[in-house]
Amino acid sequence: MKRRALIAANWKMHKTSSEAKTFVASLAPRLTQIKDRDVLLCPPFPLIFHVDEARKDTNILLGAQNMYFEEKGAFTGEVSPIMLRDLHCEFVILGHSERRWVFGESDESINKKALAAVNSNLIPVLCVGEKLEEREKNQTEHVILNQLDKGMSGIPESAVSSLVVAYEPVWAIGTGKNASTADAKNAIVLIREFVHSKFGNALAEKIRILYGGSVKPENMKSYMDQEGIDGALIGGASLDVDSFFKMVSY
Ligand code: PGA
Repeated sequence: MKRRALIAANWKMHKTSSEAKTFVASLAPRLTQIKDRDVLLCPPFPLIFHVDEARKDTNILLGAQNMYFEEKGAFTGEVSPIMLRDLHCEFVILGHSERRWVFGESDESINKKALAAVNSNLIPVLCVGEKLEEREKNQTEHVILNQLDKGMSGIPESAVSSLVVAYEPVWAIGTGKNASTADAKNAIVLIREFVHSKFGNALAEKIRILYGGSVKPENMKSYMDQEGIDGALIGGASLDVDSFFKMVSY
């Protein structure tokens, strides 16, 4: 089954409001010729409002890079799913490896976030992937399946069809060392098999699974040519609009 491709930019902690507006103003007119895929921008929290304003009358999708799982309360420094919906976000990246390994997020809290996101009609982009030492110990499959099992626990079937999973091997993120297309494909087959075993074939066929980790204009097409890879989650190479557009129009 051919799923609609999703090309997502994770800007991480980059850009000012004027840089974000300039980026969208430059990207939007180029996207009018591209109708067969989804383009998602995930700016840092303070830029979400500006990107939303700048994307009006375009088909650019909007997402956050993280959120907390409570709706409101005494949680200094956190942002709730309701706030993200209020700013018109449609997606939220959850469980990114920088959240897991720089900020110590557990599978349990990522799962709570995924459930809260779904409850607020936000589509989680759930990131999974192994660290280098885990790969060297042949634990890649175990790590991916464990992160999926815990991360997706309790997600209702109605939300699984729109869910996005990103396979992002930690050793490939921001390092310039992208995974081979065969490794990316194998991991993505494993992820789809997991969804099949938990939720059945129809949902496994619907769910979109992305590859992320040092995707750049030169290697984008080689991933998109792989059966089962439905798109990319792009960090560093998404910051420059020309580079990002090259990957969108792979
Ligand atoms: P990168 O980051 O493209 O800079 O490797 C990807 C990501 O962290 O989502």
